[in-house]
Amino acid sequence: MAGRHKVTVVGAGNVGATAAHWIASKELADVVLVDIVEGVPQGKSLDLAQAAPIDGFDVKLVGTNSYAETANSDVVIITAGLPRKPGMSRDDLLKTNSDIVGSVTDQVAKYSPNSFIIIVSNPLDAMAQVAFRRSGFPKNRVMGMAGILDSARMRCFLAEALDVSVENVTAFVLGGHGDTMVPLPRYSTCAGIPVTELLSEKELAAIIERTANGGAEIVGLLKTGSAFYAPSLGAVEMTEAILKDKKKILPCAVFLEGEYGVNNLFVGVPVKLGKNGVEQIIEISLSNDERAALQKSAAAVQELIDVLGI
Ligand code: LAC
Repeated sequence: MAGRHKVTVVGAGNVGATAAHWIASKELADVVLVDIVEGVPQGKSLDLAQAAPIDGFDVKLVGTNSYAETANSDVVIITAGLPRKPGMSRDDLLKTNSDIVGSVTDQVAKYSPNSFIIIVSNPLDAMAQVAFRRSGFPKNRVMGMAGILDSARMRCFLAEALDVSVENVTAFVLGGHGDTMVPLPRYSTCAGIPVTELLSEKELAAIIERTANGGAEIVGLLKTGSAFYAPSLGAVEMTEAILKDKKKILPCAVFLEGEYGVNNLFVGVPVKLGKNGVEQIIEISLSNDERAALQKSAAAVQELIDVLGI
């Protein structure tokens, strides 16, 4: 019998701890939760381990302040970094979080040189690029989670407007994980029917705007942090697709080299995830307006990369 998979989650805050929870309850892998704060990863892992008999999951849970215990992980989810406060944009976190993500990546590359890295820290696309450059990993093994979250938000709002099951609704969001993200109603469907045939332009415009501001809406409500249930589950969906070699098409931030006219930059596009990580970048045809919106979004990510000089 093949051994169990091993997933490390870096950062034992709300996103990291909730990711550990989803992985354990889905029985996907043993989980190592690592954080610089002493006691917190240990305490949360112990609490989660004590939930195992109730829910019936058999995975090993370890909380630690040391990367030695993360050795040989199959997947590493990086959530470390500061979250936004009300009024802040994701980009305000650039300098602090690039230092944090950079040093975490050094440890990941040292202890788990064959792992797949999934970035959740913000500003998302730029942090994925930091991890890619610092790890020296090939581009199929470094990716960012944002499109799943953004399209899940859009699906949630579409299902509510249509008064149908969320399971009937698919949605498509391209671009960077920021104010310039590009929701594409033309490629969003309800039971296979394009939503452009079911909702008015005005209704769709309101949903698009709410989707693009989805993170800020939650930061405004929570006041002391940002969203975590849906972001963590997005990272776990990517983890599952890789560990189970599902060949699942998901919107992820990946390194583009000419696809969609974008060069040497992480931006969100549909990709196929399987046992080799990013196995294919899927290029869909865009209208002139959609292409222009994607270029604008990529330019916003490029500005951050220029500030970092990476
Ligand atoms: C959000 C943050 C986590 O979109 O980026 O909720």
